[in-house]
Amino acid sequence: MAHIKPALVENIRKDIENLNMYNETPGEGITRILFTEQELKARKYIKKRMREVGLEVEEDAIGNIYGTLKGSNPRLSPVWTGSHIDTVPHAGSFDGMTGVVGGIEALRVIKESGLRHERNIQVIVFTSEEPTRFGKGCLGSRAMAGDLTRNGTNYLVDEDGKTLSKVLDELGYNNEQFHLIKKEKGDVYGCVELHIEQGAILERLGKKIGIVTAISAPTDLIIEVEGTQEHAGATPMPVRRDAMAAAAKIIIGIEGMARTSDNPSMVATVGKLDVFPGATNVIPGMVRFTVDMRSDNFKEKEQIINKIEVLSNAIGDIEGVKTSIRIVSHEYPAVADAHIVEVMKGVCDSQRKEYNLMVSGAYHDSMFVSRFAPFSMIFVPSRGGISHHKDEWTDYEDIKSGVDVLAETLLIMSNEKENTERNE
Ligand code: GLV
Ligand code: MN
Ligand code: MN
Repeated sequence: MAHIKPALVENIRKDIENLNMYNETPGEGITRILFTEQELKARKYIKKRMREVGLEVEEDAIGNIYGTLKGSNPRLSPVWTGSHIDTVPHAGSFDGMTGVVGGIEALRVIKESGLRHERNIQVIVFTSEEPTRFGKGCLGSRAMAGDLTRNGTNYLVDEDGKTLSKVLDELGYNNEQFHLIKKEKGDVYGCVELHIEQGAILERLGKKIGIVTAISAPTDLIIEVEGTQEHAGATPMPVRRDAMAAAAKIIIGIEGMARTSDNPSMVATVGKLDVFPGATNVIPGMVRFTVDMRSDNFKEKEQIINKIEVLSNAIGDIEGVKTSIRIVSHEYPAVADAHIVEVMKGVCDSQRKEYNLMVSGAYHDSMFVSRFAPFSMIFVPSRGGISHHKDEWTDYEDIKSGVDVLAETLLIMSNEKENTERNE
């Protein structure tokens, strides 16, 4: 294969730093929540960068942004890369941004290397990978997979009571075109997302590249515990129906279920808890909390949901409170495409890079892309495995190294014929 130019560390650094100037919490990590002023500015920045490197820019009816590098045969299905630019509250600088900035740099390198490629290559900014605003993640890729319809946007509500549907309307997205977001099998030739690892496996192994073979899938629950709001001083212990005490027992139980699982990919987190009315001297009348569960085994997640139901009912009986469980999302783990994995292994070998084959514990838009297209991902190391935290760090040299693997992989895929064998 003819030589592809190396990616430039300075481009990557500059774009990540510029992008992260759009931030609601300067000095306290990056907070950039879907369709807020800062997020809209970040979108504008990315579109400008895409145009600067010679990509055609389009946006669909849920705000997924497509930057296209035209191939010599645009009738063939395109090759994709990309990630997200929205964040969790007080996030780091790299989660999502690495794949968007790295994707743009990879396309720039391909273009400027002057190498022939048949398929269009597209870098996608997927709308709201994080569930921060509407409680559900991967909104853009979910809509592509047909799992979020225009009608479904009426049922996603933010903390101010605003629906996603209303927000999209206000921003001028055309709801008549919502159905066009959906992709069918065959529409996309294959997708490779570059992302930081968000764990410490690569660092421990001293390897710079992770090749993802599967993504562990999340299940999100909201549990409500209803007790009786009463005076904290005047209500004796035996007659209380304390929603908080009952919730705490359920939470400890859930943590124990994940801890005692034989499957190391099984994890459970209660990360958000609302206590009503939320006063020092009032017994809580109602508590609502989230449960985020992940596993590479769908069946095991089902079993844990059943166990949580049994536990909540039992604690409800003992504590005299009412409990209810709502399943917000319940996703299937995604298996990477064996052929793309092989291509990436070959690219790493030719670039003399040691790689590690690994399962992603975090979820990514690629999980939904897997429903309609073959995928894999490239991971680059996270210092100390820290992520979803302001101290998240990946060396820019390591990102550059990942972009070099990405660029060559995309180039190879973009010249492949349609009938390459796939593990359907
Ligand atoms: C994605 O950010 C996740 O929570 O895995
Ligand atoms: Mn994240
Ligand atoms: Mn991410």
